[in-house]
Amino acid sequence: MSSTMPQSAGESARTARIRPGSDAHKRLFCRTLLDTFNPYKPAVIDWPQLEPDARERLVGLPIWDVAVQTEGRARLNVASYAAVTRDPLLREAIELNAFEEGRHKSVLSNLVAAYGIALAPEPEYLAPRDPEWAFMLTGYSECIDSFFAFGLFESARRSGFFPPPLVDTFEPVMQEEARHILFFVNWAAWHRRTMPLWRRPWFELKVVGIWLYLIWERVRIARDVGHGVQDNNFTLNGAKAVGADISVPGLVDLCLTENNRRMRVYDERLLRPAFVPTLARLVRRLLRS
Ligand SMILES: [Fe+2]
Ligand SMILES: [Fe+2]
Repeated sequence: MSSTMPQSAGESARTARIRPGSDAHKRLFCRTLLDTFNPYKPAVIDWPQLEPDARERLVGLPIWDVAVQTEGRARLNVASYAAVTRDPLLREAIELNAFEEGRHKSVLSNLVAAYGIALAPEPEYLAPRDPEWAFMLTGYSECIDSFFAFGLFESARRSGFFPPPLVDTFEPVMQEEARHILFFVNWAAWHRRTMPLWRRPWFELKVVGIWLYLIWERVRIARDVGHGVQDNNFTLNGAKAVGADISVPGLVDLCLTENNRRMRVYDERLLRPAFVPTLARLVRRLLRS
């Protein structure tokens, strides 16, 4: 599969500032997502033969059920918001985002089948009642999970837990999540500036509600892990699970470096996801002292 890294053309155009919420801003974040699309096909991925112990480690990761279901729900959440989006360019970009979530699910389903990983039956995916809430829930949860996934993926690469062919196969999925959260934070900034003023308080309440829900969900999952339930909060146990001998501060540093590396390639006039990296830097400072 080829990389989704965009060309670094138009350097001079990139230095001009752009106002969040403007039409130019919308065009830029939509076009960035659309123009960096990677047309790989999950069906033709040649899953690398793994050594028995590498295969066993992969099969033993406690993440597969939740990973497949998260992508299934993400596809539906994002597609539901695309369906109610009137702006044609924005809709096209959100539809692509939904397509890519569905493709992640296919990649994971094919991986699971290729390595003989048993999955629990999938629940029924129900269309959300509030598409905007659902889109934001997926967007903000990707902002949290992708940040840690970047660091864990790199740590699994360095430790050799993921053999190089598997790293290559998964690389486009990781970079797609970077594109998604970049798109999402720019959409959120644009959306809150272009909505009627009377809707703003309700929107901000939704944002707070979603963050509280996401924190509660992660605490609950962390607690469930102790009772042998599968683990969405891969980060808590992930570093050990992927065989990396890395300290918590080391892992936070790696997440920050990888996040920067993955975001650096996009137009610098776009906003970057800031909340989770800022929290991570704060935690990093506390750990150091
Ligand atoms: Fe995804
Ligand atoms: Fe995504």
